[in-house]
Amino acid sequence: MKVNIEKTAAAGAKNNIVLLATGKTKFDGFGFSKEELSYLRQQLEDGKTRLVALNQYKRWVYVQLVDKKKEEYQTVESFRVEGNKILATLKNHKVTDVVLLDMENRGDYALAYAEGMALGSYTFTKYKSKPAAEKTLKVGINSKKTTQAEIDRLNIVVDAVTRARDLVNEPFVGLNAEQLAQAAVAMGKEAGFKTEVLNKVKIESLKMGGLLGVNRGSIDPPTFTIMEYKPKEAKNKKPYVLVGKGVVFDTGGISIKPSDGMTTMKCDMGGAAAVIGAIYAVAKAKLPVHVIALVPATDNRLNGNALVPSDVITMHDGTTVEVLNTDAEGRLILADALSYAKKYEPELLIDAATLTGAAMRAIGKYGIVSMTNTPGAENEALKASGLATYERLAEMPFWDEYYDLMKSDVADLKNIGGGVIAGAITAGKFLEHFTNYPYIHLDIAGPAFLEGGDSYRGKGGTGVGVRLLFDFFAKK
Ligand code: BES
Ligand code: MN
Ligand code: ZN
Repeated sequence: MKVNIEKTAAAGAKNNIVLLATGKTKFDGFGFSKEELSYLRQQLEDGKTRLVALNQYKRWVYVQLVDKKKEEYQTVESFRVEGNKILATLKNHKVTDVVLLDMENRGDYALAYAEGMALGSYTFTKYKSKPAAEKTLKVGINSKKTTQAEIDRLNIVVDAVTRARDLVNEPFVGLNAEQLAQAAVAMGKEAGFKTEVLNKVKIESLKMGGLLGVNRGSIDPPTFTIMEYKPKEAKNKKPYVLVGKGVVFDTGGISIKPSDGMTTMKCDMGGAAAVIGAIYAVAKAKLPVHVIALVPATDNRLNGNALVPSDVITMHDGTTVEVLNTDAEGRLILADALSYAKKYEPELLIDAATLTGAAMRAIGKYGIVSMTNTPGAENEALKASGLATYERLAEMPFWDEYYDLMKSDVADLKNIGGGVIAGAITAGKFLEHFTNYPYIHLDIAGPAFLEGGDSYRGKGGTGVGVRLLFDFFAKK
């Protein structure tokens, strides 16, 4: 289903309506009959029922209560969650248009509710031989506090998340490194950002030994995609640079994954999808920020030419790396992008990567593992965006002792360290070696792909990172 969100001046007598309210809102002023009011009270009495549907023959009126939580961002998230939940009821009632009445006169609640509806209605049907005809649900927001600009932005963000999810859900058979690069090019044309795709010859001339090393076991060439959005009115002098891990499929290589752990590995370009989705949304919304996004991409497969454990490769910046586990491939391709990014002198570089199972084990699907070499205002702002979008950051320590675990006897660095100790952090420390600028690393292995689904985040690719990064840039 597709959800169109628009601003609505008033709700007519025939409009289906959702009354959005918190706590003990009085509905007396709304024109309910006595019977309706007593039915409402009776339904809501148990303190558990939060959605009551009233059939007024020509239309449905839904009363949606959302309890206030301790923190405002938690209440906003509850609105998203409830927005997703009402979709099933609307489907049952065959309702195709609905107006959200903002009884609290706040704006943000109605926007969050609409966001939950829109994100929750996502489906990936490309490979269904008989997909159900796509229906459109029209959602009008009736709130004095919501501006047209906010609604435009919401539609842009939903579109960007949808595209990021599509990219993640696309199986390897339909998305190799070149196809991922082409998707970025197409999105750039649409949204108005520049793209340049470096091919294998160019990548070889740049001596990107990490990307080329991982690619050795593949029958498809690697790509390195450079996206840039630079509006004239940009507020930042030095660019914000994003880097996304673009492993279009991760078998583990010669250090092959057990089959259980491999089935979801089309999601290993979730970081790439996040940064492509983010720059797409930033450009579409014409935010006044100069943003560059880099996506190194390849699959991690094995053939007679593949890297074997203990091989040594030389990276783009000259660092030598002993590859002790070919399944720790993400850091190899990201490292080349991070050292390449030095030429931009980034104001800040943020990378997003489905980097480690350790990050997933540490905090599960509930958030993003983060670490930074520069604690301070930017890091705090990104964490605040994490709460605002509920793509929360769990910050790990970034102590230098973890770096020592990555030192090799044979080369400058090894690509695994510490055994089962602090696997998400040692991976981050490996990456930090290739930076010389303020750096935030986001390990999205937990929330990027959900086999079981999670409210409006849905099943499969979630597009996590798009909303987070867009919110961060929108507040610049
Ligand atoms: N792509 C995986 C990490 C991953 C695991 C992402 C589960 C999403 C869900 C990554 O390339 C990987 O294989 N990491 C290894 C690193 C290890 C060999 C040091 C891991 O986490 O097991
Ligand atoms: Mn791997
Ligand atoms: Zn991987």
